[in-house]
Amino acid sequence: MAQTGAPDAWIDVSPEKAGAEISKHLYGHFIEHLGAVIYDGIWVGPDSRIPNTGGIRTQFIEDMKRISAPNLRWPGGCFADGYHWRDGIGAPEKRPRTYNYWQHSMPAGLDHTETNRFGIHEFMRLCRLIRADPYIAANVGSGSPREFHDWVLYCNAPAGTVSLAAERAANGDKQPFGVSWWGVGNESWGCGGDMKPPEYAALYRRFVTQFPVYPPRPRLVATGPRAHSRDMDLGWTSGFFEAMREHRSPVNGFSLHFYSDFRNGKGRAAAFDPAGWYAVIREGMRTAEVIGKHWEVMSRFDPRHRTKLVVDEWGVWYSPGDEIAPRAILSQPLTLRDALHTAVTFDAFHRHADKVAMACVAQTVNCIHSLFLADGEKWLRTPVYSVFEMYRPHMGARSVPLIIRVDEIAAPADGASVRMPGLSGSASLRDKTLTVTLTNPSLDARKKARVRVTGGTIAEGRGQVLTHENMHAHNSFDRPNEVRLAPLPVELRGGNAEVVLPRQAVAALEFHLS
Ligand code: AHR
Repeated sequence: MAQTGAPDAWIDVSPEKAGAEISKHLYGHFIEHLGAVIYDGIWVGPDSRIPNTGGIRTQFIEDMKRISAPNLRWPGGCFADGYHWRDGIGAPEKRPRTYNYWQHSMPAGLDHTETNRFGIHEFMRLCRLIRADPYIAANVGSGSPREFHDWVLYCNAPAGTVSLAAERAANGDKQPFGVSWWGVGNESWGCGGDMKPPEYAALYRRFVTQFPVYPPRPRLVATGPRAHSRDMDLGWTSGFFEAMREHRSPVNGFSLHFYSDFRNGKGRAAAFDPAGWYAVIREGMRTAEVIGKHWEVMSRFDPRHRTKLVVDEWGVWYSPGDEIAPRAILSQPLTLRDALHTAVTFDAFHRHADKVAMACVAQTVNCIHSLFLADGEKWLRTPVYSVFEMYRPHMGARSVPLIIRVDEIAAPADGASVRMPGLSGSASLRDKTLTVTLTNPSLDARKKARVRVTGGTIAEGRGQVLTHENMHAHNSFDRPNEVRLAPLPVELRGGNAEVVLPRQAVAALEFHLS
């Protein structure tokens, strides 16, 4: 259908300037022993009526495979610094029942003792079923270098070497697990030990010195800042790297936690006004600034940038009260607003593809910024899942510069108004396929956008869109497909493309260049 009138937005894309690879690991996941994430969300047990593969919810495996989930971070989170890996091996009925850090958050009368039914063997089986890389967060807060090194040996030592390899084999896995990504603690400034940077840096060095050398090549991730603090916690970053100066311990990754923290906000997860809508999306857009600021500090100590950022917890976190079940603490409904937040966050990751090695959404199921909600036999994919699905072609492609010219939005905010970008977007190239993703945050105006490609012409194009007439729309167990993907018409004109982006929408466009 011909679209008349001048475009509202001009999108200039330069595939000939394709830069850094967008690591597939930017689309990673975080799962923790917290509420109903592991137990019920993922692990239902082999005797469950819920379809399962050796105890793991089959639907979870299938849906994660569909988005090519590249990695899984486990077992926490705050839980990691109280977790002793030996509690989770051996005959399930003999495993100890231990204290779970998150127990203090459970409503009275609900027991959340850790059964240790899901341990390292179950986790590795899950990774293999999904074809995701394991990323293990080790216990620094209440553990020791020896416990850490033993865990690495248990996971990676080949059969026939150390006794821990024989123990692993006796527990059912002769072949090494081959874990490359190791997080050395979690939030060591808070639940991971309440430390100052020099204290943590000294411990970090003791943990990574004498790290067992069995393959694969280790990627060691140090605890980084609480970047959603008012000052972005830049002091943690400078304090850590200052304390590491003149030491030789490798730091391959530096973790950054950036929640869009609305726990004290006026609105709720699925009940908010237009100001609340825009505030969440603006906070997602701030991801780029946060990455840039920490990178700047890191440059002072590490000009060659041997250390990359690992954003291993990100998402929007609302105030409690909308949990899907009492035991599913920190679960919340995810609306169309959260889908747009996801899209603008990925745009920021793509723009900083040279700086960010990995990112893990917090958390994949039944907690904070989830792709799935599960309660017994009930299961749904949230609108956040749809964005992971739409953005999949960016994984492993090369980031391409994209310039957007469009009027800003004057967004309502606490009785006043603030200006924010009228569109967000990013682009990537794989062979001759150009992917352009665009987000229109406006609650009022659709935008006709003209996409122009320098150094090439668009020979074919197609699009997909995620939107809904109701800004609060979300999927529920009764209406699991309320917010869903739909085709978006793309019109080609003289080597350029034109699309009409509905208001409050995310679009993914795929172009074949000639
Ligand atoms: O994702 C929930 C919690 O948020 C994690 O356990 C912790 O690392 C962070 O504070």
